[in-house]
Amino acid sequence: MSGGKGAIRHFLDLGDAGGDAIAAMVGDAIDRKAARSHLPKGAPDPDAPLKGRVLALVFEKNSTRTRVSFDIAMRQLGGSVLLLDSASSQLGRGESIADTARVLSRMVDGIMLRTDDHAKIEEMAAHASVPVINGLTDLSHPCQIVADLLTVIEQGKALPGLEVAWFGDGNNVLHSILEAAGLMKFNVRVAVPQGYEPDPAIVALARERGAQVTLTQDAAAAARGADVIVTDTWVSMGQAHAEEKLAAMAPYQVNAALMGEAKPDALFLHCLPAHVGEEVSEEVFEGPQSVVFDEAENRIHAQKSVLLWAFGLLGE
Ligand code: CP
Ligand code: NVA
Repeated sequence: MSGGKGAIRHFLDLGDAGGDAIAAMVGDAIDRKAARSHLPKGAPDPDAPLKGRVLALVFEKNSTRTRVSFDIAMRQLGGSVLLLDSASSQLGRGESIADTARVLSRMVDGIMLRTDDHAKIEEMAAHASVPVINGLTDLSHPCQIVADLLTVIEQGKALPGLEVAWFGDGNNVLHSILEAAGLMKFNVRVAVPQGYEPDPAIVALARERGAQVTLTQDAAAAARGADVIVTDTWVSMGQAHAEEKLAAMAPYQVNAALMGEAKPDALFLHCLPAHVGEEVSEEVFEGPQSVVFDEAENRIHAQKSVLLWAFGLLGE
């Protein structure tokens, strides 16, 4: 996190919080999820810790899960949201990110931004005087990975030494998994075709922090003995549907044969939306090892922890 003690808690990437705070987020999410199992989804938690706070949700790309989970998370914490998109706000007419950040900071208590270029969210954070949360950029998707860690842990798996295997495109979601690996000390086998590798600087940082990261073009080898199998769309938002890319990705489909290489109790994760029949077969997506809808629900519980951290109510 930039700045010293008392600095604004922006959550642009997992490293802004650090390993201890992420562990605290997952623990708090598990407790809050269990404590409200009897409540309707829109009812506030009894302590309503964010009562009176408003979060602006700013979307420059489509979203279902991130949009709904932040809204419901804020309701459950006793706060509220307002929604902006580039088409109907002045962002779409060229108002600068810097001015938008300064205006929103006078009006709301926090800002979540989903955008393309990661530099835009850095710009938002540089000019905001309230916490800024990354709801996905072309570079990373940290909130998704807090939900993924929660899902893996509630399924009874411990993070240190966990073998996570990723298949397909070396994209934003993989980048945040790699960052989490360094912070939480698990290992990642990355099986991607040549030319679609993750950012080497992110791989290097994960290794420096103590994660074992293996890059391979052999999907079966990457899956062998893995605890968690993960994939994502082969074409992320903003990318071209190139035939060449789809052809390169085909050998990396997560199907029954690939799952058969992993541990018998391995989990299948996918951040969604999925393209069943492309990056994952229907058999795996709908099969008993798939926890993708727990993972989707956990976006709410994880978001609540991210928000509590950002507002200084969780973690050191
Ligand atoms: N996983 C995820 O971020 O989904 P949305 O694009 O629907 O928000
Ligand atoms: N990699 C995907 C994730 C969607 C949640 C994308 O950026 O479109």
